[in-house]
Amino acid sequence: MIELAPSILSADFARLGDEVRAVTEGGASVIHVDIMDGHFVPNLTIGPPVVKSLRQVTDLPLDCHLMIENPDEFIPAFAEAGADWISVHQEACRHLNRTLHLVKSHDCLAGVVINPATPIQTLSEVLDIVDYILVMSVNPGFGGQKFIPSTVHKMRRLADLRSERQLTYRIEVDGGVGLDTIADVVRAGAEILVAGNAVFGHGDPRKNAEALLKAATEAAMIKV
Ligand code: DX5
Ligand code: ZN
Repeated sequence: MIELAPSILSADFARLGDEVRAVTEGGASVIHVDIMDGHFVPNLTIGPPVVKSLRQVTDLPLDCHLMIENPDEFIPAFAEAGADWISVHQEACRHLNRTLHLVKSHDCLAGVVINPATPIQTLSEVLDIVDYILVMSVNPGFGGQKFIPSTVHKMRRLADLRSERQLTYRIEVDGGVGLDTIADVVRAGAEILVAGNAVFGHGDPRKNAEALLKAATEAAMIKV
């Protein structure tokens, strides 16, 4: 199932509740929350208190993308604040298996994220543990960057591997997804589509979300 996950990184932080409501009306079914620590990525964003406030204004799953070092230290706090999905970067985890189990022990869906330069082979031993895999299509740290087309083959390969190995993880994409790129990633097998700038960067977020979902759904119908 195709789902749109607007990234609130590009939303107006003073009006987060309204922004979330608008994209929900536009058909968004997941809210993507970018957590940055100024170490793993060269930017700082938000922590558990904002997740807790978001929890009060929406019933949609909160998809917390942790771009932080030592994620094990903060996973319990995000889960407690109301995160439903928590993803960690392969590059930030010395003990990835342990970290994924930690996420699951808090009754959250566990995701693993790979940067554009990280091959999917680094995930071969966790494919059967993860609930979802997030393929970064930009280098993480900022919204509004240009999509990196050479990441698309990883989505396709992950979709193939899933059927070969009869696994169930879902495939998410994040970075530079907009009307010009969404059909390519959907055809490659991405099902959870994160978009920040394309939703909140201009115009009406509700209409932007509707247009993106329409383009994605059409691409999914003519996939095979
Ligand atoms: C990048 C973040 C993304 C970002 C996507 O580090 O993980 O979620 O907000 O934004 P756009 O869609 O603007 O590239
Ligand atoms: Zn993200």
